[in-house]
Amino acid sequence: MTTIGIIGAGHIGTALATTFLDAGHDVVLSNSRGPETLAGLVAGLAAREPTRGSIRAATAEDAAAAAELAVVTIPLKAYRNVPVAPLAGKVVIDTNNYYPQRDGAIAELDEHRTTSAQLLQQHLPESAVVKAFNHIQAAQIVDRRSPAGTASRRALAIAGDDAAARTRVAALIDEIGFDLVDLGPLAESWRIEPGTPGYGAEDDADQLRAHLAGARRDDAA
Ligand SMILES: NC(=O)c1ccc[n+]([C@@H]2O[C@H](COP(=O)([O-])OP(=O)(O)OC[C@H]3O[C@@H](n4cnc5c(N)ncnc54)[C@H](OP(=O)(O)O)[C@@H]3O)[C@@H](O)[C@H]2O)c1
Repeated sequence: MTTIGIIGAGHIGTALATTFLDAGHDVVLSNSRGPETLAGLVAGLAAREPTRGSIRAATAEDAAAAAELAVVTIPLKAYRNVPVAPLAGKVVIDTNNYYPQRDGAIAELDEHRTTSAQLLQQHLPESAVVKAFNHIQAAQIVDRRSPAGTASRRALAIAGDDAAARTRVAALIDEIGFDLVDLGPLAESWRIEPGTPGYGAEDDADQLRAHLAGARRDDAA
């Protein structure tokens, strides 16, 4: 059982909280407006059957501090607000995507000089950022779970510069119900950004590998 701190309580934060609770992990959920605004959501998640883990609302700072493993799932434009010190030494899952119409233009991304995950890694230099859950619709994180060994099991891609962190996130993804394709370092994460063939596709591992291999840098966000 792991305490997972989630920064961002929207579509993805809520879906991940649901799956983590079902797997028996404890969740600390946060947003930008404060824990009191999450009371109804947290009560609803806690009342689900057969929820096995515990959940509470907190500030982003407190969720980061409580986390044994953290998730950042917010609009990319807000990434500089993610607390740095309480996430030092921790694995941080990054679900974020770059949508210029929502996030404003970010020159390094428009010019393909970096990836959105590398921006978060720069902001959190003492953390091990792992890109994950960025290419699946929020509802599917709950609806498309299936046990290991299921034929055509839905697969998710991860990327990260720290191999041990990737291994840890890979185990979590398998535990909650998905196969895994490991892209290696964060610099490769563009292969699963918006605009690429694997983004949003309902792929099993073989299909996802083919989509990742066929991705073109100019098509990615
Ligand atoms: N929706 C999807 O299906 C999907 C799929 C894959 C990836 N993504 C990506 O995942 C990220 C989250 O998407 P989403 O759809 O879950 O977004 P969303 O529904 O708009 O929710 C965003 C959440 O982030 C919180 N937030 C914003 N700024 C924050 C800050 N500085 N500190 C703490 N929390 C903050 C918001 O809190 P307040 O409401 O209090 O401001 C809200 O709870 C985005 O980058 C998105 O592109 C989304």
